[in-house]
Amino acid sequence: MTDVKQEKKPDSFGFVDVLRVLGGVIFLNAFLSWWFTSSSTWGYDGKWINTSYLAHRITNNFVNLTLEELSLFNGTDSRLPIYVAVNGSVYDVSASRGIYGPKGSYRMLSGKDAARVYVTGCFRNPAEYTYDLRGLDEEEASHDVKEWQIFYEHHPKYWLVGHVQHEVIQGEPPEPCEHVKFPGYHAPRSH
Ligand code: HEM
Repeated sequence: MTDVKQEKKPDSFGFVDVLRVLGGVIFLNAFLSWWFTSSSTWGYDGKWINTSYLAHRITNNFVNLTLEELSLFNGTDSRLPIYVAVNGSVYDVSASRGIYGPKGSYRMLSGKDAARVYVTGCFRNPAEYTYDLRGLDEEEASHDVKEWQIFYEHHPKYWLVGHVQHEVIQGEPPEPCEHVKFPGYHAPRSH
């Protein structure tokens, strides 16, 4: 008779167990959230659960577009994100397709750098959809441009994706127009 000694394996808590517990916690959290709020993220739908934003954060990849390339991102091709630009800075606003998409009230801002119209609010004049800020009050223009850039960059659903190369401005600036501001305006962030 042979005496086979069996070694007892020590109980260990391995990597797979860690994954199991994590999976369980995530599932329980999603279930409770769905139960109480009908959403698996406790009602949160900001950029931190947006895969495009997370991919951008991980790769830290910023675009550098020409005006022609930027125009492709105007919402008409539903496979592409929607971009708006304010004085060179380009933002992803795809989360608000209802506002910036082909049927949105601000669709005219998509796929271009219309910094001027962000200052003047003269939406009816096609010539205003330009980054040409000549002829505007310098203080008003730089204040409004900055505020809109802050609005887009710090928005819970939008983010800065890169820059657009401006072409040299030629010809005369648009005719002066009567500026329209949001009722109760003091800064664009108050929108
Ligand atoms: C300089 C003038 C103005 C500029 C540049 C401007 C620009 C904008 C932009 C970019 C948005 C979208 C914000 C977002 O992404 O959430 C917005 C939203 C909105 N703006 Fe203006 N705006 C101006 C003046 C006005 C005025 C005068 C009114 C009304 C009398 C107005 C009414 C609205 C409304 C109702 C929304 C919400 C749109 C929606 O949810 O579909 N805006 N504005």
